[in-house]
Amino acid sequence: MIILAIETSCDETACAIVQDGTTLLGHTLLSQMSTHNRYGGVVPELASRMHTESIHTVIYKTLQKSALSFQDINAIAVTQGPGLEGALLVGMAAAKTMAVSLNIPLISVNHLHGHIYSVFLTQKPRLPFIALLISGGHTQLILVKKHFHFELLGQTRDDAVGEAFDKIARYLKLGYPGGPVIEETAKNGDPTAFKFPRAMKHDGLDFSFSGLKTAVIQQIMALEESKKTIPIADICASFQQAVIDILIHKSLKAARSHHIERVLVTGGVSANQTLISEMTHAFKEKGLRLYSPPLEYCTDNAAMIGIAAHFQMKHQKEWSYRASVKPGLGICDLIRR
Ligand code: KG4
Ligand code: ZN
Repeated sequence: MIILAIETSCDETACAIVQDGTTLLGHTLLSQMSTHNRYGGVVPELASRMHTESIHTVIYKTLQKSALSFQDINAIAVTQGPGLEGALLVGMAAAKTMAVSLNIPLISVNHLHGHIYSVFLTQKPRLPFIALLISGGHTQLILVKKHFHFELLGQTRDDAVGEAFDKIARYLKLGYPGGPVIEETAKNGDPTAFKFPRAMKHDGLDFSFSGLKTAVIQQIMALEESKKTIPIADICASFQQAVIDILIHKSLKAARSHHIERVLVTGGVSANQTLISEMTHAFKEKGLRLYSPPLEYCTDNAAMIGIAAHFQMKHQKEWSYRASVKPGLGICDLIRR
């Protein structure tokens, strides 16, 4: 089964061709990051316009890289949501046109399922597992007992982790997206220099990051007022450490309380190698196994959509040409029309 997948939920125009759910035959990703960077965040209308301008290029490039033609494709997969409505519509229109013209299935994929299944590109974690999904819009702990059966255990009550990275980077004028630049800056800092809060540590499996973001900003303001030099590296390192501590604490708690030995950490923030190495170490100590996608596939890409589509077809066998985009799709939503 060869699936051509499209992802346009935010600021990456991406296409991938995946065979049998695990073999990536080719992929192309055109990032709009440098354009949105000028505005300190993603501008939705600009994102849609740029997807429209480059969607055909990424499709043709991917076919070329895979040495395939449209006739070799057995199904088209596309991100249905969540994401920016206008951006999703560009991908959906392109995907639907291809599927209908080629008379092959159109598989609508939940972007969040894509992040979870990105791990399967290089690894095969056995079920059941817990997924810690950490991205720019989501922070969730999900129990997966069966393929395509998602049980939400906990989530953020306010900001997503990636959002906190982005907001603090914006405040420090470090640019967008905040995650990579904060991680890099933190390498020269002391993670114990400032004691930032670890919110909701003892309250169930939900998270809260807005208090941490405010504490960091207030600390910077206090230093500014007292005319002291801002120790940016120490602030980044201490903020990142607070995030890492809470993510490790809650994932261990989820694994322990549900007697699960395998945890997948996925989504854009899982690109943070400091987090991955600390998490791997903490999990190993408890006899648990951590899985994460290859670095290149942590942030948005189309390969993860192709892989999720494969598992979806295998376990749900559902597709429809009538699908429309769902900007507010949640992790447990499996409705496709
Ligand atoms: O999964 P993703 O590409 O898009 C969404 O679905 O939201 O995640 C993007 C988020 C951004 O907030 C970005 O700052 C964060 O992932 N991110 C990181 C790192 N790389 C990307 N956060 C922390 N450390 C990183 N190295
Ligand atoms: Zn994403």
